[in-house]
Amino acid sequence: MEAVVLCGIQGAGKTAFYVQRFLDTHARVSLDLLCTRHREARFLELCLETRMPFVVDNTNPTRAERERYVRPALEHGFRAVAYWLDAPPRVAIDRNATRPPRRRVPVSGILGTRKRLEVPCAGEGFAELWRVVADDGRFVITPLERPEAPLAARAT
Ligand SMILES: Nc1ncnc2c1ncn2[C@@H]1O[C@H](COP(=O)(O)OP(=O)(O)OP(=O)(O)O)[C@@H](O)[C@H]1O
Ligand SMILES: [Mg+2]
Repeated sequence: MEAVVLCGIQGAGKTAFYVQRFLDTHARVSLDLLCTRHREARFLELCLETRMPFVVDNTNPTRAERERYVRPALEHGFRAVAYWLDAPPRVAIDRNATRPPRRRVPVSGILGTRKRLEVPCAGEGFAELWRVVADDGRFVITPLERPEAPLAARAT
C-alpha cells in the first residue's frame, strides 16, 4: 500500500501532477480540499485503516510537516514515497498569477515556503524519492538522490 507525499511551493504543480498521475488510484489528502486539520486527520485515519492508497497534496516543505503523514503510514505498513515538485519561484509566481483569483496565493507565501523548504530524504522513511519538473503540461520525473547544489545556491 502506497503513501505518496508531494512537496513543493505553491504553484509548483502538485495538484496538476496528482490529477495526471494518481487521480484513478489514490485518494487525495489535501488541506485545500478538506479545510481543517481535524478533517484531514480523520480522512488520513480512514485511508490507513482501510488500506486505501493516498497522496498528500500539501506544500509539505519541512521534514516535520511530512512526518505527520510518514510516521503513521509506516506504522500501518504503508510504503512511503516522496515526490519533490521542483519549480523555480519565478515560474510558480507566474503560474499563480494566471489562476482564478480565489485560487491565487500571496507571492510572499510562495517565497516563505521556498525559504523553509527542506528537500525530502531517505532518512525520513521514504522508500523512493523523486524529483518532478513540470514543463508545458508534462511532468518529467527523475530519481532524487541529492540536489545538485544546495537550494540556497541555486538560481530562482
Ligand atoms: N506541467 C505543467 N506545465 C505547465 N503548467 C502547469 C503544469 N502543472 C501545473 N501547471 C499550472 O500551474 C498552476 C499551478 O499548478 P497547481 O495548482 O497544480 O500547483 P500546486 O503546487 O498544487 O499549488 P498549491 O500549493 O497552491 O495548491 C496551475 O494553473 C496549472 O495549470
Ligand atoms: Mg494544489
